Amino acid sequence: MPKDIKTVRKCLFPAAGYGTRFLPATKAIPKEMLPVLTKPLLQYGVEEAISAGLDTMAIVTGRGKRAIEDHFDISYELEHQIKGTSKEHYLTEIRKVITSCTFSYTRQIEMKGLGHAILCGETLIGNEPFAVILADDLCDNEGGDSVLAQMVALYEKYKCSIVAVEEIPMQDSNKYGVIAGEEIEKGIVRVTDMVEKPEPADAPSNLAIIGRYILTPDIFDIIRETKPGKGGEIQITDALLAQAKKGNVIAYKFKGKRFDCGSVDGFVEATNYFYNKVK
Ligand code: UTP
Repeated sequence: MPKDIKTVRKCLFPAAGYGTRFLPATKAIPKEMLPVLTKPLLQYGVEEAISAGLDTMAIVTGRGKRAIEDHFDISYELEHQIKGTSKEHYLTEIRKVITSCTFSYTRQIEMKGLGHAILCGETLIGNEPFAVILADDLCDNEGGDSVLAQMVALYEKYKCSIVAVEEIPMQDSNKYGVIAGEEIEKGIVRVTDMVEKPEPADAPSNLAIIGRYILTPDIFDIIRETKPGKGGEIQITDALLAQAKKGNVIAYKFKGKRFDCGSVDGFVEATNYFYNKVK
């Protein structure tokens, strides 16, 4: 790792998935661009990364995802139309995002799973620790430190990979990567085992990984060696297990709320929550 890079400054957004649960909406629009109120899911994610002190956004896209690049760019026509009018304030937030950080993109050619999508991001990340946000997991901490900001602070102390976890009802274990381990501090678990989407009877605990990670860059070599697992996909959980076996992964019970916006129920819940917040 380059010596001058002491902390996390890059955030990877795997955003190449098909979003089949939101068809037909996601036929021509990326799932990550679906809005909760007026803001696309991916912009919430980028704002969270900025709030954690990160300034380099790396996005893994796929075919049909060009709207993402256009969103994080200036629209001269729009600027020209509404500059100086009463509507200009609608652009304030996105202008701030665009000027606070840089964006780079790479494509995942074949959708071989989340682990594979993260490996595709290697070219944008290089040899340094980095954050991963799955924008369809929308997080909010009621004005306190964002979930990623909490994790970056923890990275400063532990300098190892970190996964955000939350307690789930046991019957939902087959939707998540589930961890087991030893609590080393309140809310912090040294991970000893991880299973991708176990049936409730096989789940090692009720602690499920959500879409926030900090990864050390050795993960790329590990993913390269990782065989397809559950569902025939290259799973990040399987790669993380190799790090965990060496004691190099902690799980963090984050403070805040998480909405699974990859599902219709979670998306509606998030919409209601944010609507009530701004009303
Ligand atoms: P999901 O499984 O939730 O997303 O992957 P999906 O496949 O787009 O959704 P459904 O199940 O078809 O409705 C979690 C995250 O990982 C990314 C997705 O874009 C999403 O942000 N992902 C997943 C990739 O980038 N590439 C993949 O090969 C798989």
